Amino acid sequence: MMNHLVSTSILSADFGCLEKDILMLNDSVADWIHCDIMDGVFVPNISFGFPVVEFVKKVSAKPLDVHLMTVDPDRYLSRWQEAGADILTVQYEACIHLHRTVTEIRNLGMKAGVAVNPHTPVSLLDNILPYVDMVLIMTVNPGFGGQSFIIECYNKIAQLRKMIDSRGIDVMIQVDGGVDLVNAPELVSAGVNVLVAGSTIFNSARPAETIRQLKYPFL
Ligand code: DX5
Ligand code: ZN
Repeated sequence: MMNHLVSTSILSADFGCLEKDILMLNDSVADWIHCDIMDGVFVPNISFGFPVVEFVKKVSAKPLDVHLMTVDPDRYLSRWQEAGADILTVQYEACIHLHRTVTEIRNLGMKAGVAVNPHTPVSLLDNILPYVDMVLIMTVNPGFGGQSFIIECYNKIAQLRKMIDSRGIDVMIQVDGGVDLVNAPELVSAGVNVLVAGSTIFNSARPAETIRQLKYPFL
């Protein structure tokens, strides 16, 4: 089994002490910092924008994994790169010309990800797989932290794993939403490469230890 990555979602961090939380992540075994960008249109919530991501970049020692839950993401791709995104993920449902969008993300020097909502079949990704570095399978409806994992998503993970392996291409599978210490080992066994977790980490009494348990779920 390959080593998986843990991407810690700061949506559940304490925004009054964000620097403290980022320094904690720097000292932890977290691999990436996941920034959830919500515009109040694609999802029924608004999170944060460029100034916060710029600040996180300044303090963070880890790559920034920026997840756009916004309509018309093409308008701001270079702005996210300038703000500090290392990996930029757009929602499949928000992109009319997805090939152009992910190509532009790569041309800007970032890794390109495409996210699918729980109702969107992974079979729709067949033709875009060679052009992306990562597929994000949303395991909750995007918009909020702390929701319950949608169990049917395991089928999508298995199906996508087969699509990737049968073609011998190098595309990471990320899951986001409702990841906890119980399902983490199951998800890794199912072939997930990147676990996103927010409330499981920031609601725990010992966040750095919880990150360690997500990173080494079989110990
Ligand atoms: C949900 C966001 C997630 C969220 C995950 O729309 O994309 O990244 O922060 O939160 P948890 O881990 O609490 O489900
Ligand atoms: Zn996310």
